[in-house]
Amino acid sequence: MFEIKAKDMRGRVGVLKTKHGDVKTPALMPVIHPRKQEIDVKKYGADIVITNAYLIYKDEDLKQKAIDEGLHNLINFDGPVMTDSGSFQLSVYGDVDITNKEVIEYQEMIGTDIGTSLDIPTAPFVEREKAESDLEITIERAKEAVEFKKQNNIEMLLNSVVQGSTFMDLRQKCASELSKLDADLYPIGAVVPLMESYHYKELVDVVMNSMMYLPDNTARHLMGAGHPMVFALAVAMGCDLFDSAAYILYAEDDRLLSTRGTFKLENLQEMPCSCEVCSKYTPDDLRAMPKKERRDLIAQHNLHVSFAELRLIRQAIYEGSLMELVEERCRAHPALLDAVRQLKNYNENFEQYDPRSKKSAFFYTGPESLGRSEVLRHHDKLQEMPKKRDLIILPPSRKPYSKFISGKLGEFYVCGKRHDVHLDDSDFMVMDIPFGLIPLEIDELYPLSQNAAPKIWDSDSKDYLKTFLDEFAGEYEQVLIHPRIVRNLDLDLKDKVDDEIRYAKDDVKKLKAIADYQFGWGVGEALFKGNINVEKSKKTGKIRHIYDGKTLIVNMRASDSYLVLSKEGAKRLHAAASYPKNRVVVNKDSEPFALDGKSVFSKFVIECDENIRARDEVLIVNEEDKLLAYGKSLLSAVEINNFQTGQAIKTRKGFKK
Ligand code: GUN
Ligand code: ZN
Repeated sequence: MFEIKAKDMRGRVGVLKTKHGDVKTPALMPVIHPRKQEIDVKKYGADIVITNAYLIYKDEDLKQKAIDEGLHNLINFDGPVMTDSGSFQLSVYGDVDITNKEVIEYQEMIGTDIGTSLDIPTAPFVEREKAESDLEITIERAKEAVEFKKQNNIEMLLNSVVQGSTFMDLRQKCASELSKLDADLYPIGAVVPLMESYHYKELVDVVMNSMMYLPDNTARHLMGAGHPMVFALAVAMGCDLFDSAAYILYAEDDRLLSTRGTFKLENLQEMPCSCEVCSKYTPDDLRAMPKKERRDLIAQHNLHVSFAELRLIRQAIYEGSLMELVEERCRAHPALLDAVRQLKNYNENFEQYDPRSKKSAFFYTGPESLGRSEVLRHHDKLQEMPKKRDLIILPPSRKPYSKFISGKLGEFYVCGKRHDVHLDDSDFMVMDIPFGLIPLEIDELYPLSQNAAPKIWDSDSKDYLKTFLDEFAGEYEQVLIHPRIVRNLDLDLKDKVDDEIRYAKDDVKKLKAIADYQFGWGVGEALFKGNINVEKSKKTGKIRHIYDGKTLIVNMRASDSYLVLSKEGAKRLHAAASYPKNRVVVNKDSEPFALDGKSVFSKFVIECDENIRARDEVLIVNEEDKLLAYGKSLLSAVEINNFQTGQAIKTRKGFKK
C-alpha cells in the first residue's frame, strides 16, 4: 500500500496505492463538502481528497444517492477519496447518531478508498481519567473496525487514529496497540486545538510520541493540519498526509494562507505571492468583489500556496535539505521556533532514520542547527574514537580543511600538562561550527566538509565549542590550541609553545582513518594491508581507487568521500569486523539470489547491524555468517527491520563461484 522513494530525517517521499490510483506523498487532501462544494480542487493540484461520510449519512438525499451512484460520483472526483467518520462532530456536539460498525459499513457501501473508524478525539490538556477512558473506546473501535474488515473481506483501506490527548505515555500506548492491528494508515488525531492555539512545542511531543511507536511502512496523516506553515516540520517528523479545510474556511474569512503565516485581506497593500490570483488582482480588486467571487479566488490562492509548499518539501527530501527548510519555515513564528528547539529532544530517534550522506550540504541556519542529528552522530563517533596522546586544535580554513593546511602551523597555546610534542602521537583536529572538532584525516567525509556556517560565531556556538573542548580535552595528556581559537573563544590560556608543528599528509593514514570512522575502529589496518597503491583523479587530485598490488580494495565515492567496497574489500571487511558489524543477515530462501548479485528485499532480512544507515556499504551474509554478497543499504537498520515490502540493499556483487 505504501512505498518509500526517498527520505530525509524522518520525512519520506512515498507512493500510496489505492484502487482509484497512486498518490505521491507528502500529499494534501483538500476537504470536500458533500453538498456545498463549489471549488474544483483537482484543477488546483489535488490528487486525493477527503470528505465526511457522517455528513453524507445524516443527509437523507445524499445518504441514498451515495449508495446508488457511489461516493466518487456524488462528490464528482475520480481520484482516491478518504472519508472521516463523524469523530469531529462527536468532539464538537458530544454525540453522533451512528455506531462504529455502522459507519465502517456505510463507508464501504459507498465505495470510499480509505475509511475511518469512530475514534474519540480527546482534546489536549484534559484530566488524565478522561483521556484514559476515551482512549479505551478509541482502541476498542479500531479493533472492531479491523476485525470487521477482515471478516467481510473488505477492500477499503482503513485508518486507525492515534489519540491520547497530551499524555505522552497514552500516545505511546495507543500507537503501540494500534500498530499490532495491521491497519492500513495511521492518522494522528486531536491536534487541531494544539495548532490553533500555537502549542507547536506540544505538537512536536504529541506527534513524536505517536510516531516513534508506529510502523514505518505505513502512511501517517496529521489530521486537520492544513496550514502550509507547519507542513515542513510535520513531514520532518514523519507525516505523509495532511488535510485542509483551512483553504476554504480561511477564504470565507478573507484570510490568505502563506508559509510565513496568515494575511488578512483588510491589511493587505500587496498580494503576497505570484499565483494566478495574486498576479492578476490587487487587494483593492478583491475587496471590491462580491463575497462569493472573492472567496473562491482566495481559496484558489490558498490551495496554490499549499500545493507549492508540498512540492518544495518533496524536492527538499530528494536533495536532503529538509531540515534547512524546516529551520527556515519555523522562523515564521516564535512558537514554531520552540517546535524546532523541541525536536532536539528526539535527536537520537531522528539519527536512526537520517541517511548517512545527502546530495546537499549541511547549512547552519542558527544555534538550532547544533542540535541536528548529523551533529549528534559525529559527536558519538568522536567519543568512540581511540585517542592519541596529544590533541592539536587548528582554526577553520577553507574546506576540505586538510587540503589547505601546509607548512609550520605557528605558535600554540598549551592546555594541560606541558611536555614535548610528539607529532606522531597527536590527533590533529580543526575546531569549527557546526561539527565541533573535525579530525583532519576524515574531514572530507560527508558532512564534515560539505557544510557551511557563518564565519562570525554567535555566542551559542562559542558556548557549544567550549563544552566540546571541555569534554574532549580531558581525554588527552596535552592539548595545543591555535591562538585564533583561544582568541575567538576567549580562553584563559597563557603558556605558548613554539615547537615545530606541521601536519604531515599521508594518504594511507587518511584511508585507514576513514575506514575506521566508516566501518569501525581497527578496520582500516585490516582493509589496507599489503602493497597499497592509491590512484588519484588527474583533474581534482582526489583519491579515487585503492589497490593492493593490482587488486582493487575500495573506491572512494567522489560526492561524499565514503569508501565503496570491491569484492576484495568486502572479503577483508568481513574478516576484519566480527559479526554483526556491517552485516545484513538474510534467510535461506534468499541466499541464491544474494549470491547471484540480486538486490535484497526487507522481508528476507533476519537481522542486521543496528548502526546501518541509508547509503552505508554493507556485507550480506547468511545465518552462519558466510559472506554471500555486498552492497549499499537503501534504508537504516530500524527501517529494514520494520519493512515487509521493497528493497533494503542494492547489491553490488554476489560471491557465486
Ligand atoms: N479531524 C481532525 N481531528 C480529528 C480526529 O482526531 N479524529 C478524526 N476522526 N477526525 C479528525
Ligand atoms: Zn497567491
